[in-house]
Amino acid sequence: MAIYLDHAATTPVRREVVDAMLPYLLEHWGNPSSGHSFGRAARAGLDEAHERLATALGGEAREIVLTSGGTEANNLALKGAAWAGKARGHRIVTSAIEHHAVGHTLRYLEKFGFETVELPVDRYGRVDPDELEAALDDRTIIVSVMLANNEVGTIQPIAEIAARVHRHRGIVLHVDAVQAAPYLPIDVAALDVDLLSIAAHKFEGPKGVGALFIRHGTHLLGQQQGGAQERHRRAGTEDVASAVGMAVAYDLTRAAQPETGARLTGLRDRLRDAVLAVPGVELTGHPRDRLPGILSIIARDTDGVSVSQALDLEGFAVATGSACTTGSPEPSHVLAAMGYPDEEARGALRISLGRTTTPAEIEAAAVAIPRSLAMLRMGSAAIAADPLGQGLTPGVAAGA
Ligand SMILES: Cc1ncc(COP(=O)(O)O)c(C=O)c1O
Repeated sequence: MAIYLDHAATTPVRREVVDAMLPYLLEHWGNPSSGHSFGRAARAGLDEAHERLATALGGEAREIVLTSGGTEANNLALKGAAWAGKARGHRIVTSAIEHHAVGHTLRYLEKFGFETVELPVDRYGRVDPDELEAALDDRTIIVSVMLANNEVGTIQPIAEIAARVHRHRGIVLHVDAVQAAPYLPIDVAALDVDLLSIAAHKFEGPKGVGALFIRHGTHLLGQQQGGAQERHRRAGTEDVASAVGMAVAYDLTRAAQPETGARLTGLRDRLRDAVLAVPGVELTGHPRDRLPGILSIIARDTDGVSVSQALDLEGFAVATGSACTTGSPEPSHVLAAMGYPDEEARGALRISLGRTTTPAEIEAAAVAIPRSLAMLRMGSAAIAADPLGQGLTPGVAAGA
């Protein structure tokens, strides 16, 4: 059986979640907007999903809009708040290490006259709240900073950022909590955020469903037109089964968070020590303020694609950077912003643990990953020393 160490890309759906969803696929399949009994049964499930998610996040049911995932939640937050705020200003402040669902949405908004200010991060991937405050002016309408990064796991000081942002009237704070939600308790009141995105598939819920928290009173223009669903903020018949699945998955996740976090930190640190023992391997991201499940490294003189392919053949699923950048020749914008030159960033690997990761899996990985890294590093050193293979016998050069 292959060992899955890519939980930051996605997670398996939990059995209890599937069980909670099935009645809404097989029995209560009505359209929740219909007034008859079939519709009312589906509506009850949908309303309960809103309630449960709102309670879990510390908000109200009317403040939750269901979306098709993290990407749509981020798009709705940024485009919706940008168009609603256009009369007041056109400046949007963000960090240089956001997920493309934020970064590329802002590039798109620039085509319509919005201006994006991208804040630098330090070597560990942290935004400086003072620098952020200095970037705010009276034309600024949105600040968007992620709670935790998907490639290196670094956690941002969101409450401190929120305090700075809310000294200025009329700036909306959006937080992409897609990667953080499985591991960090989220309380929208304590964090003092206006908009917050989550996605179910990162916490053992189904794919293709997410949510955007929209603080009551925050102006947002809906980005798809049609019916009046989700209080006019997201037209289209809701996927009730997925909404129920997400709510159940999030409740189960939250209940186990302290235990999961402590256990994964221990397992991750065990693997970290084994991997960092290989010469030329260094940890990326913050040494302490990071998600418990993410171990991100750079192995000098290797490329992450070769390492992850070698590990795949041995039965270990890991990622080169983030799943979203796999297959793309572009070096990671996150590592570039953290100051790693392209040739170093090529050697990036992300090993991400999840609730279902076992000690036995980590023991196996603690042998296999350092071995692969060491072999690939030795291979590239040998090639660098003897690029034409002249020191090798013909049989060895041919791979015999
Ligand atoms: C931080 C972050 N934001 C947004 C997304 C996009 O979420 P989804 O895949 O649900 O569209 C991801 C997915 O990897 C992510 O890690």
